[in-house]
Amino acid sequence: MKYPEIVSSLTLEEKIRMVTGDGAWHTYTVDRLGVEGIMMTDGPIGLRKVDEASNKTYISVAFPSGCLTACSFDRELLRQMGDTIGKECQSYDVGMILGPAINIKRSPLCGRNFEYLSEDPYLTGELAASYINGVQSNNVGTSLKHYAANSQEYRRMSYDAKISERALREIYLAGFETAVKKSQPYTLMCSYNKINGTHASENKWLLTDVLRDEWGFEGAVISDWGAVNYRDRALKAGLDLEMPGNNIANKDFILKALADGSLTMAELDTAVDRVIDLSRKCSAGKKEVPFDFEKDHETAARIAEGSMVLLKNDGRILPLKKETKVALLGEFAVRPRIQGGGSAFINTYKVDSILECMQAYGNVEYTKGFEIDDDTVKEDLIEDALRLCASCDTAVVIAGLPDNYESEGYDRKHMHMPSNQLALISALAKAGIPTVIVLQNGAAVEMPWADDVSGILEAYLGGEAAGTAIANILYGKVNPSGKLAESVPFQLEDNPSFLNFPGNGYEVNYAEDIYVGYRYYDKKKMAVRYPFGYGLSYTTFEYSDLKTEAVEDPSNLIKVSLKVKNTGDVFGKEIVQLYVGDVSDKAGRADRPAKELKGFEKVSLEAGEEKTVEFLLDERAFSYYEEKIGGWMIPTAEYSIMVGSSSRDIRLEKTIYLDLGQSIPLHITQNTTFGELLRDERTRQYTIDNLMGKKASGILSFGIEAATAMMDHNPIRGLRNFSNEKPERVDEIIYELKQLSDDE
Ligand code: BGC
Repeated sequence: MKYPEIVSSLTLEEKIRMVTGDGAWHTYTVDRLGVEGIMMTDGPIGLRKVDEASNKTYISVAFPSGCLTACSFDRELLRQMGDTIGKECQSYDVGMILGPAINIKRSPLCGRNFEYLSEDPYLTGELAASYINGVQSNNVGTSLKHYAANSQEYRRMSYDAKISERALREIYLAGFETAVKKSQPYTLMCSYNKINGTHASENKWLLTDVLRDEWGFEGAVISDWGAVNYRDRALKAGLDLEMPGNNIANKDFILKALADGSLTMAELDTAVDRVIDLSRKCSAGKKEVPFDFEKDHETAARIAEGSMVLLKNDGRILPLKKETKVALLGEFAVRPRIQGGGSAFINTYKVDSILECMQAYGNVEYTKGFEIDDDTVKEDLIEDALRLCASCDTAVVIAGLPDNYESEGYDRKHMHMPSNQLALISALAKAGIPTVIVLQNGAAVEMPWADDVSGILEAYLGGEAAGTAIANILYGKVNPSGKLAESVPFQLEDNPSFLNFPGNGYEVNYAEDIYVGYRYYDKKKMAVRYPFGYGLSYTTFEYSDLKTEAVEDPSNLIKVSLKVKNTGDVFGKEIVQLYVGDVSDKAGRADRPAKELKGFEKVSLEAGEEKTVEFLLDERAFSYYEEKIGGWMIPTAEYSIMVGSSSRDIRLEKTIYLDLGQSIPLHITQNTTFGELLRDERTRQYTIDNLMGKKASGILSFGIEAATAMMDHNPIRGLRNFSNEKPERVDEIIYELKQLSDDE
């Protein structure tokens, strides 16, 4: 305990108030003991500070959403965004921001995918840690949310996510783990849902055993707003602060549990102590800093343009030339969709018009072509558009998803774009007009039209300065450098969670297990519209000279280096991605994805410039979570080190062999197979010497590999039926094998 004197001076009533919010956005203040309550606000793309008396939301700057910032693959950019938001918190006297939100994109349909970062936990964890470090460098807190497995909105307060421990560890918890270890967020926010039968808010395994005991989390756990089921059980499990605190509605749960002994005063005191610590840490950030809206708006533009993804650029239709006559279509051009709905929604400072930003560059004329608020196909709008195109060189359509298509609170039902937009794009294609599509959407959409257009810029939800960023990229002031942080399938039905999303209303079976996103598409060798990690540039890059070497450093195993060169004629940034895959024969061993992202670096290169890029791979880069031992392990195997420009564009590859002497305990029964015995170092020789010849004499003459294959699936008990061994001898053999394999 850090503050025993304060805790012991509090009355029971005060303690209960300390572990409960003071209204919707504050923690409790105890003036006489110098405990100053803090204010917290949403998050995560800027400040949504609400004045509780008037219910008015302050004006603030809306930065790009997680769906876009993740595509930057740029730790420094995320740190800057966090730092800027941290300073804004100081300007508005806010002690903590409720973000980042990092749930894994299991299905493209999840209503909050726009807030979340990626389908990949490594990318998620690295970027979340950078954002948190940025905010907290100002002594302002963050709340990493929603812990855990909150990958859908349907019945979000009560569904039960049925997930294997391996999938939890490798996919759904891993991003949280990295962020906790690399940035120690002041708080973690537990999710609404249940995980394997227990609400996250009452899940001791999640909130204490894993989070604190294994990962070393030092902060406080707070509830999502209204996520507490039984307050006393939540306290016991490790949930420190309940939010919001209206009327301390759950006070009686605590009093009753203290009275009947199911909750101890020490347990309550631990939570109180953590909330005091939170108040202390967040109050330390208080500073009179003016809110520089203009400067932060500019920062938002830089973040957006460092993240947008160029998906297609046939015949180098982009960048547009100043003299190109552009027909700008789609109502989003004048009413851009810049953010998602729900708790993340910002009352913006100013929103850049895409039309105006493009007109500042060149010859651009606008007509609607389609409306945002009405999906009906209106032929007159399409005809207007075709007429305008007839006098222009190129059409640019600002397309995307209207607000009501995706939001916090509900999931999408499909991945389609509105029919009026599809009709416009198809009419342009029929008329043979060279077309660029700019997409403003919070999550992947089906793009049946992709082959019919020349250019596609995935701009996602780019924040209030998205217009500036889009114009800068379209006209080549900025060379696009983002890559997709999620796979874009051809159709929803291809997605691995399709058969089990969003569940039956009570349970959601995560049947695809660890095969989320590209882990699934790659393993199945399935074609996708655009793969994870994909994105083009106005220049080209060449990879060479891949080297790997073992390192002595106790926390790392392998050093990887390579060269990357800008072979085009303009400055550009390349995101070099490193994937690892266990390529040994999988028989009898844990199944693993074909490749997993284990490193990335964003490299800036002038035209013609070459740089060396280095990666250090630690043990986790090669590990999987083995449920039989309740821990991570690195099987003795061959591993492919793949370096590339996307998950489907591997440029260099090298295979290394790792033997760290790790093995799973072998549990011997009469159904243990010869294959298992032969593959395990501990029992291999014994099996060759004592069993092989007995089972089928002469089989060894085919060589040990063929013999192994033939005998692979035969259990020890087969010796009773197919050899001359006496039945009792089988028990002796099992006993001897148990001795060899330490199977007590
Ligand atoms: C959301 C959180 C948010 C909180 C406070 C909840 O409904 O799930 O992400 O931080 O409300 O607005």
